[in-house]
Amino acid sequence: MQKMTVNTTEKYDILLGAGLKEKVAELLLPFCPTKKVFIITDDIVDRLYGEEIAESLNREGFSAEKFVFKNGEASKNISVLSEILEFAALKGFKRNDLFLTLGGGVPGDMGGLASALYMRGVPIVQMPTTLLSAVDSSVGGKTAIDLKAGKNLCGAFKQPKLVIIDTDIIKNLPDDIFACGMGEVIKCNIIKDLPIFDYISKGAVKQNIESVIFDCLALKKEIVEQDEFDTKGIRNILNAGHTVAHAIELLSGFSIMHGNAVAMGTVIEAKISEKLGFCNKNTAQTIENAVKNSGLYFEIPFSKEDIANACILDKKNKDSRIVFLLPEKIGSCREVKLTADELINLL
Ligand SMILES: NC(=O)c1ccc[n+]([C@@H]2O[C@H](COP(=O)([O-])OP(=O)(O)OC[C@H]3O[C@@H](n4cnc5c(N)ncnc54)[C@H](O)[C@@H]3O)[C@@H](O)[C@H]2O)c1
Repeated sequence: MQKMTVNTTEKYDILLGAGLKEKVAELLLPFCPTKKVFIITDDIVDRLYGEEIAESLNREGFSAEKFVFKNGEASKNISVLSEILEFAALKGFKRNDLFLTLGGGVPGDMGGLASALYMRGVPIVQMPTTLLSAVDSSVGGKTAIDLKAGKNLCGAFKQPKLVIIDTDIIKNLPDDIFACGMGEVIKCNIIKDLPIFDYISKGAVKQNIESVIFDCLALKKEIVEQDEFDTKGIRNILNAGHTVAHAIELLSGFSIMHGNAVAMGTVIEAKISEKLGFCNKNTAQTIENAVKNSGLYFEIPFSKEDIANACILDKKNKDSRIVFLLPEKIGSCREVKLTADELINLL
């Protein structure tokens, strides 16, 4: 098992290794003296791991309650959040009990926000079960739900007490869910020169999954520690590929999953960068090859005009211009602002 400490206002550890789900009771105990745990998960993850984990906690003398909601982004909303909070109150959870999110970015983001709100904040442990949530959403303290007006518009910063990543769970993911996580993994390799593109070209990502996740987390830790509350502009680098990705997600009515949209975004933004002369053809081609070799869906079913119009809504925009974090080479990105017309000409 590997351990990485994130030095935010409240420090916490990320534990990464095989077989950690068998040790959940032991790992949670230091953060839960009352032994009352509130598990927040979705129906698919519940069937795979939720029941097993709740039973193992109960066997070890914990009292575990579960809130299970329908899987998918459509559940990341204020009605389900409200049901989670009401359920916690109904079951008598108190401020020193523990919330445990079990699942991908959706249970992680929404359970994280519930823990920030319930009784003005209760401790939370994140247990990510998708590659995307392992390398990205479970770390860094950003929690949120979506509003009708847009994604992640209602949220809070809430750092977890602990993050538990069982690599056996990640290795056993269905191919399409694993591939989605590769969108964020590829983004990490664009921001920092890592060995991951090499693993992808050799078809060796799963064999090296622990080191892939570790490298992505080390990058996220480095950035989050410098800009915990996203006020210094440093965290913006994590949005490489995301301007176009958010537009694609929005245009698809969120039927294209976040990680896949990020992968498409990295390719389109690399091509924009190449056309602007900020990166060479080789860099753009390396990114496109990594996306295609990761089994990600790639055809963009939207017009240039639709993409540009959706990009105008991006939260990062400044002075009526669309902000992009474009690759200069593998391991380096720069901020570029474009008008919608400039963008259409570059797409
Ligand atoms: N907070 C952050 O910093 C941050 C960063 C990136 C993304 N996000 C958010 O993360 C979300 C996307 O995350 P996601 O792709 O993990 O979504 P998700 O939680 O919806 O998981 C995707 C699908 O995989 C299923 N699943 C989860 N674990 C599984 C397992 N082990 N085996 C089989 N199926 C499994 C889920 O039931 C779901 O159907 C988005 O809402 C995005 O906004 C947040």
